[in-house]
Amino acid sequence: MKGLILSGGKGTRLYPLTYTSAKQLIPVANKPVLFRVIESIRDAGISEIGIVVGDTAEEVRDAVGRGGRWGVNITYIQQDAPLGLAHAVKISSNFLDNDRFVMFLGDNVIEGGISQLISEFAHSDWNSQIVLTRVDHPERYGVAELDDDGKINRLVEKPKNPQSDLALVGIYMFDASVLEAVHAIKPSWRGELEITDAIQWLVDHGNSVHPYIHRGWWIDTGEPGQMLEANDLVLEELDYQIEGYVDRDSKVGRRVTVEQGAEIINSVVRGPAIIGQDTRVVNSYIGPFTSIYHHVTIEDSEIEHSVVLEYSHIKGIGARIQDSLIGRYVSIERSPIKPKSHKMTIGDHSQVGIL
Ligand code: DAU
Repeated sequence: MKGLILSGGKGTRLYPLTYTSAKQLIPVANKPVLFRVIESIRDAGISEIGIVVGDTAEEVRDAVGRGGRWGVNITYIQQDAPLGLAHAVKISSNFLDNDRFVMFLGDNVIEGGISQLISEFAHSDWNSQIVLTRVDHPERYGVAELDDDGKINRLVEKPKNPQSDLALVGIYMFDASVLEAVHAIKPSWRGELEITDAIQWLVDHGNSVHPYIHRGWWIDTGEPGQMLEANDLVLEELDYQIEGYVDRDSKVGRRVTVEQGAEIINSVVRGPAIIGQDTRVVNSYIGPFTSIYHHVTIEDSEIEHSVVLEYSHIKGIGARIQDSLIGRYVSIERSPIKPKSHKMTIGDHSQVGIL
C-alpha cells in the first residue's frame, strides 16, 4: 500500500498564523501535525508516501525533506490550486500507479494508530474504507447516512440539514477504482472536486465501500479552538521526560517534558505541559495544558492552557495569559513608555482579549 497526505490548501481559518506558513506545520504538543500524520502512516508499515503540496510547498519540503528521518520515501506532488480533495487524488495518479492507498488529511489528529484499520483494508477485497465518527456539528463536515444494516446510503458534503451525526474523518482507503470516480464527478457548489462525491460515485456504481466507526477522539485542526483542543488531548498522551535543565528553586510536575537545551529557572511548571528545545522559563508559572515551542523566552509571567510558537518572547506580564495561541517571533512585554496604555502591532485577523 501507499500513503497520500494532503498538505495543500490555504488554511484561512487559522489566520494570522497561516498567512506566512502551512497550517499542517503548526505544532501540537511541540510536533507539527504533519509529522504526526507521517508517523502514523509509517507505523502502519507503509514506506512510499506522496505529499500533495500547494502554495506552501517550499516550507513543507524544507521541514519534511525526503523522509529519511522516518525511514520512508517522500514524493511531492504539486497542486496548482486547492481545487478539492478529489482533485488532489486525480493529480496523484502517476504516483499511486493503481496501488491500494490510504489518504490522510495533513491537518487531522486522531487518537491511537491507524495500523489495524489499514491492515484490515489491505487484506480485504473492499474497494474503499472510510472512517466515520459522531460529531456535534455535522454540518461542518462530510456526512454519511447509513441504512439499518450499517451500509452506506448517502454521503453529503457539509449539508445544511444533516440527516445523521456521522462525519467523515480525514482518513480514507481506496483501490484504483477511485481514479475512475475522480474523473467522473463534477465540481461542487463550492467549486471543488469533493472526495465525498467520488465515494458516493463508488457506492452508486456498485463498489464496496466499508464504513468504520471510530470511537476515540479526532480533531480537524482547522481553527484556533481546535488547535488548543488537539494540544490538550495529545499532551495527555505524551511520554514525559526531562532532558533540559531544571534549577533547584523550580518545581516541575510529573507530567512535564523539558526538551534538550531548555532551562527552567526559579519557576513552577504544572503538567501536562511541554517546554521546547532551547527555551528559557525564568521566574514564571507555566500551567497545565501548555506547549511552549523551541527558542522561546518566558520571564516574570504566567501562562496556562496555551500554545506558544518558536522564537517568541513574553516578559513581565502581570495578568495570567490563558487559552491563547501565540505565533512565531511574537513579543509581549510590559511597556515602560508613558502614557500608560496598551501598545500593539498586531497582524490581520488577530484576536486580543484584554482585562
Ligand atoms: O476534516 C474532515 C473533513 O475534511 C471531511 O469531513 C470533509 O468531508 C472533507 O471535505 C474535508 O473538509 P474540509 O473543508 O475540512 O477540508 P479542507 O479544505 O480543510 O482540506 C483538508 C486538508 O486537505 C487540508 O490539510 C488542506 C488539504 N487540501 C485541501 C484542498 C481543498 C489539499 O491539499 N488540496 C485541496 O485542494
